[in-house]
Amino acid sequence: MERFSIIKPDDWHLHLRDSPYLESVVADSARQFSRAIVMPNLNPPVRSCDDAAAYRERILSSLPPDSRFQPLMTIYLTDNTSREEIAKASASEFIFGAKLYPAGVTTNSDAGVTDIANIYTVLETMQTHSFPLLVHGEATGQSVDIFDREKRFIDTTLSAVRTDFPQLPIVFEHITTRDAVDYVESQDDKIAATITPHHLLINRNAMFAGGIRPHHYCLPVAKREEHRLALVKAATSGSKHYFAGTDSAPHARHTKESACGCAGIYSAYCAIELYAEAFEIAGNFTHFEAFMSLNGPAFYKLPVNSTELSLERVEWTVPDTLAFANEDLVPFKAGELLQWKVVEHG
Ligand code: DOR
Ligand code: ZN
Repeated sequence: MERFSIIKPDDWHLHLRDSPYLESVVADSARQFSRAIVMPNLNPPVRSCDDAAAYRERILSSLPPDSRFQPLMTIYLTDNTSREEIAKASASEFIFGAKLYPAGVTTNSDAGVTDIANIYTVLETMQTHSFPLLVHGEATGQSVDIFDREKRFIDTTLSAVRTDFPQLPIVFEHITTRDAVDYVESQDDKIAATITPHHLLINRNAMFAGGIRPHHYCLPVAKREEHRLALVKAATSGSKHYFAGTDSAPHARHTKESACGCAGIYSAYCAIELYAEAFEIAGNFTHFEAFMSLNGPAFYKLPVNSTELSLERVEWTVPDTLAFANEDLVPFKAGELLQWKVVEHG
């Protein structure tokens, strides 16, 4: 197979930032994807429907002319999110979920939820409206080993939420462990999981290969090889539980190459090619289209895209750096060869 076409994909988990960075990155996503679920962890966060409407306008006005890319907005849950705001968001035509960041878990999560009990009435309203809960599934706290955070979150929080709100649609975002795959497999179709290209392509050794590699640091951190293999198996399985969500999270180069570097990997520049690389290495493209373009819309109850995109087997090199307002940005796989290229867009 040297060339193939798929229905144009969507990115079900994306960080677009805000002006002046937004303008630098949104074109990369708009070139490859039809739609994207846009994360609300700005500073200050996108907490209300009005915030989401204003952010959406800023995104739309930053798009290249003629782009038909659709940002699907989300709101950020805090201890004080009201049931009224959730009801309003679920009735909105442009808001598609609410994001749970346990407070302190990652970039701009300080305003997040300090105790899941604080949002239980909000979760009840979300369940009533079948309004998706998008979860950064990591337990916080100094005592939890960073490599155990995802499993600990499943055991202490996610299982209880599933039991207490069995009809609530949940997206377990950017899963990184076999434990998460096993958990999702054991559940019904009310829960799905996004998988990033970087967690399909690297394990935790990549953060320490010959020295500290800040451009491979993200949250949740990459885990052992056995976990990466479980993610590849899940993504390539065709199961409706899994779909693409890049978690592309740009940070200026100097903020990553620092004594206390930021978490986040920028994959939007070549996201589809990165996913294709992972499926190529697995030697199995059978369910590539389902993972990239069908399972996500089915979960979010949205129509499948009507255009196609083609990939061709051709070696090319990812650029070393990209422009990021007046700074620069190092994309995932910078300077490395990829084997597939998007050659035709719908
Ligand atoms: O690595 C990450 N970067 N993980 C997150 O959860 C947030 C993201 C960001 O916004 O930079
Ligand atoms: Zn994210």
